[in-house]
Amino acid sequence: MEQTFVMVKPDGVQRGLVGEIVARLERRGLKLVGAKFMQVSQELAAEHYAELKDKPFYPGLIDYITSAPVLAMAWEGKNAVGAVRQTLGATKPSEAAPGSIRHDYGMDVGRNLAHGSDSPENGAREVALWFQPEELVSWERATDAWIF
Ligand code: PPS
Repeated sequence: MEQTFVMVKPDGVQRGLVGEIVARLERRGLKLVGAKFMQVSQELAAEHYAELKDKPFYPGLIDYITSAPVLAMAWEGKNAVGAVRQTLGATKPSEAAPGSIRHDYGMDVGRNLAHGSDSPENGAREVALWFQPEELVSWERATDAWIF
């Protein structure tokens, strides 16, 4: 089953939107398989955003992600990467579809509330970067057999 990495970023935590974001992913049908509330180190932030290190916004992005706690999560499901990205909405809140999290709560690409992996490959890479294997929980929902 496909896995994806989701992080409620510092602005999502500061604004009290953790429960709302988790609830929307749960209701979508995704299954939570890992979660930890944490302060992100410079090293982990740099590794997570390594592909962006030459972007002009990179220093500000690292400062922002390491500024306050985040909720790091691993979610699982059929097409989990795409489902999460659709539920979050486009990276720029101004382009996010009505009803998506970033549309409904976001204003600025630099404060877009949450991160979701952008491909199944990056989903696997990011879940492995943020979680030790023993921190991931393999479990069955009663609904798995007949809804999903
Ligand atoms: S790019 O340039 O197309 O590769 O970037 P993009 O895919 O749009 O965004 C990648 C992540 O960078 C964040 N981002 C920014 N952060 C701070 N300031 C500015 N201006 C900015 N522009 C993009 C964006 O929110 C993405 O973060 P994640 O955590 O991956 O959603």
